[in-house]
Amino acid sequence: MINLVSLLVAAALVSLQCGFEAYAQIEGKNDLDNNLQPNVVPVKRRTLRPFVNISDPPPKSVRIAPGTRAELVCEVIGKPAPNAQWLKNGQPLSDYDEVNEIISIHPSSLARLTSKVVVTAAANGDEYTCVGTAGLKQQMATTTVFTVEDEDEPNLFTLEALFRKPTKPVITEYYNEIFQDIGSSAVLPCRYHSVGKAQVFWLDSRDELVYGNSRIRVLPTGDLLLTNIRWEDMGNYTCTVKNKYGKDSVATFLYPAKKQ
Ligand SMILES: *[C@@H]1O[C@H](CO)[C@@H](O)[C@H](O)[C@H]1NC(C)=O
Ligand SMILES: *[C@@H]1O[C@H](CO)[C@@H](O)[C@H](O)[C@H]1NC(C)=O
Repeated sequence: MINLVSLLVAAALVSLQCGFEAYAQIEGKNDLDNNLQPNVVPVKRRTLRPFVNISDPPPKSVRIAPGTRAELVCEVIGKPAPNAQWLKNGQPLSDYDEVNEIISIHPSSLARLTSKVVVTAAANGDEYTCVGTAGLKQQMATTTVFTVEDEDEPNLFTLEALFRKPTKPVITEYYNEIFQDIGSSAVLPCRYHSVGKAQVFWLDSRDELVYGNSRIRVLPTGDLLLTNIRWEDMGNYTCTVKNKYGKDSVATFLYPAKKQ
């Protein structure tokens, strides 16, 4: 059992740790050891200063045919657990995440977040900016969208085709991994883009449907709320979003960290 647990943790840590090492080097501090022992990050997590880093930014520019869809992806690592927002030509694309205002993010939490934006009606030269925020820290990355005109096909037709085309949901915001103190609460986001109505459900770390549990439950937004986190809660939580055209699934690895 112990071995299995260490293996699972090691798997989740490798990617996170790579991000932190890059960060520590940039900061000119050697906060982290170079090995990948599972217990390295949880121990050092406390001494790590608050930070945010766009560890995998969207491309500087993309070229798409007018009226077609594109997805931009932004990956953010931060302490406390970060969130991300998208701006289109400087204006917010969606309302600010209210849930995270209600259930405040634990100051010693640490997470890697993936945020996507579905670009549906871009004009040539539109700028999409990913804004990663963790506590008071913020970092941005901008993509310029260029639309390629296709002379053979009038714009109207492409647009019509877009609206008729059935599309499965896209999960646009989730944590890849999160470290969170035992005894505290966490909200695992599962935000999505769907044409038409969609259903959200979560499987817990034992692959069981989250339902009728008072400690772990799905919020109306589709996010998962875990209260009074225990060591046994460690593992992957899978969010699935379904509409009549298909589904999308993502996994969040929760690492309950010991308080020190
Ligand atoms: C958790 O899910 C991710 C993404 O599907 C996967 O890469 C990872 O191996 C899983 N980890 C465990 C411990 O099952
Ligand atoms: C963020 O992290 C990436 C590597 O993960 C690095 O290339 C980049 O320079 C970092 N950015 C800042 C501003 O620290």
